[in-house]
Order: sequence, then structure tokens, then C-alpha cells
Amino acid sequence: MKSYSLALIPGDGIGEPVIDAAMRVAEAVSARHGFALTPTTFEWSCDYYLRHGRMMPEDGIEQLRPFDAILLGAVGWPQTVPDSVSLHGLLLPIRKAFRQYANIRPHRLLPGVEGPLRATNFDLLCIRENTEGEYSGAGGRLHQGTPQEVAVETSIFTREGVERILRYGFEQARARSGRLASVTKSNAQKYSMVFWDEVTAEIAAEFPDVEVRSYHIDAMAARMVMQPESLDVVVASNLFGDILTDLGAAIQGGLGFAASANINPDRSAPSMFEPVHGSAPDIASLGIANPIAAIWSAAMMLEHLGEMEAAKDIMEALARTTAAGIGVRPGGHRTDEITRAVLAQIG
Ligand code: NAD
Ligand code: IPM
Ligand code: MN
Repeated sequence: MKSYSLALIPGDGIGEPVIDAAMRVAEAVSARHGFALTPTTFEWSCDYYLRHGRMMPEDGIEQLRPFDAILLGAVGWPQTVPDSVSLHGLLLPIRKAFRQYANIRPHRLLPGVEGPLRATNFDLLCIRENTEGEYSGAGGRLHQGTPQEVAVETSIFTREGVERILRYGFEQARARSGRLASVTKSNAQKYSMVFWDEVTAEIAAEFPDVEVRSYHIDAMAARMVMQPESLDVVVASNLFGDILTDLGAAIQGGLGFAASANINPDRSAPSMFEPVHGSAPDIASLGIANPIAAIWSAAMMLEHLGEMEAAKDIMEALARTTAAGIGVRPGGHRTDEITRAVLAQIG
């Protein structure tokens, strides 16, 4: 029987219950489709940091490398470990080390979910650069705590990095509606975003069948609220994509629905699948985290592994669950009620 090795990193807060739910659902579909999942759990988290002084072991990346895929819950518990330490010690290094440069985030309404907008017929695929740009980590601080204090944080946009994410965006647009929106801010950022626009135009020449339009990030934010149905594939830099995809989550009913895949397109290292949301400290002890975003992320994982029918089964089970009114409103159902309802739909 075919078997896929999975590295599970539940992480902090609601990461643990939502990964537990996602694995139960993934295992249920794997049984029906004749393949096996062999999970190994890594307890890397802010609790781990308090015990070991680091977010993962020194060879953590090498421990993860042999796996077929990584499923991650959420990282961050700011009450005990500063976010700037925890995220730079676990989540962000994985994305960079494994060249997971395409962060794919779908935004659409599941049946029965009421978003805050009048529009209901939108279907967006946000593609976020995931390894460089504003998240390069280049910078420093000088004269800390003095009136002369200086903090510098420089975005780094490389030709390789910008070309490959835009090309990925064009390919996705070609496979969908043939329309691509490239997110810029070249009216204010006259080096990096002018470069981004130039590369957009260069890659566009390779895709004459794709209609590409550039939007400034501010106008894009408004458009995602006012006319999301006018958009299809949206490609953006790391920080712009981060912000737009929480907005995307909001219009699809909330963070409990937004899934994501951190893809290494050349498959030279594992890809990682995780909900868009964080550890949600405000609800972490209440048992009401919506597991749908994590379950949807597991479906994206199975699709990446080539198990298309199993992934489709999960998405259909989610749709039938929400169509029956389960999991559609924050706090309306408990995590385990939603998980049981999805499992019942899988049969
Ligand atoms: P968050 O996404 O954790 O929470 C934002 C709001 O959305 C909260 O009110 C929360 O209760 C709600 N929410 C999130 N997921 C939900 C779900 N599945 N069901 C129901 N409600 C949900 O964002 P935050 O509060 O800014 O961050 C909390 C911590 O998580 C921080 O440490 C942050 O750095 C970290 N974080 C991690 C990731 C990640 O690991 N990928 C992503 C975002 C934030
Ligand atoms: C996300 C998160 C992360 C990001 C944080 C936790 C560093 O917000 O995956 O969207 O900004 O990439
Ligand atoms: Mn985010």
C-alpha cells in the first residue's frame, strides 16, 4: 500500500486541536482511497522553547527534510515567548530552508457560510511570495534605549525570487480563468516595487494568453471588499500577501476557514500545509476553534501528494457540513462537534 510520511507540528494554542481534527479527517479519507499516512509528531512550540531555550533542535530542519509533507497548526504564544523569537525560530526558517516560495491561499465561501459582504460568488487564489521580500530578516538596531536609537529592516527582492513567484502566479492564472492581478506599491516604493512591476511585464511576455493587471496594495484591499468577484489569481509579495490573506479570510467568513499551502514547486524538499490563522490565545482554552481551515489545509496537502480523489472527498465533506449549518459561525459549534460532523460526511 502507498504510504506518505507526515511531520506534524501542532505548535501552540489552537494548533493542537485543529491538527488533531485535520489528521482524523485525512486518515478517514486515506482508508477509503487505499493509501496510508504515517505521522510523526514534533512537539516544537513555545512550551518547548521554555524547556530547551530554542523553538526546535539545532538539526530540526534536517529532521524534517525526509518527510513527504509537513502539517503545522500555529506557532506563537506571546505571553511567554516574544513572537519575534518564536516565529523566527520555527515557522519562518522552515519556509525559507525548504524553498517553499509559493504560499497558496484560497478564499471562497463554503456553502451555508455567510461572510460580511453582499458578494457571495467570489473565488480567489492568493499567491504570496514566501521566502524573501519584507520578511528577509535583514536589518539591525543601534543605540538601543537611547534617544539616538535606530532600527533598520530592509526588504530584499531578488530577481530569482520575484521571477519565480510571478511565473507561478501566471501558471496558476493560465490553469484557472486566465486573469492575474499583480499587487504592487510602485507609486511609493520606487526601487523594489518598480522592479516587481518590471518583472511582471517581462514574465507576461511568456504568457500572452494571460491577462495581467497591476493593482496598488491599497486599492487591492478595497477591491477585495467591494468587488472580490472581479478577481481571480492574485500574486503579491510576502508582507502584502500576508495582510491580504487575513482580509481574504475575513470575507470568506473568518480565520476559521482560511487554508494555506507553503509549496516547494520543484519538490526538492517537503512542502508545508497550515491554516492561515495563528494560535488564537483568546479562545485557546475554550474548545471552540474552527478546525475547517486546518482540515482544508490537509486537503491541499493530499492534493499536493497526488491524492486528488481523497482531497476532493474532504472538500465535499466540508461543503456538506457547512451546508447543514455546522461550523458556519464563530463559536456556534465546538471543535469536536465540527470534526465529528465532517467525519460523518466522509462515512
Ligand atoms: P490569530 O489568527 O491567532 O487570531 C485572530 C483572531 O481570530 C482571534 O480573535 C482568534 O480567536 C480568531 N481565530 C483564529 N483562528 C480561529 C479559528 N480556527 N476558529 C475560530 N476563531 C479563530 O492571530 P493573532 O491573535 O494575531 O496571533 C496569535 C498568535 O499566533 C501570535 O503569536 C501570532 O504571532 C501567531 N500567529 C501564528 C501564525 C502561524 O503559525 N501560521 C499565523 C498567525 C499568527
Ligand atoms: C501567516 C502568519 C505569519 C506570517 C506570522 C506568524 C509570521 O501571519 O502565516 O500568515 O506573517 O507569515
Ligand atoms: Mn498572516
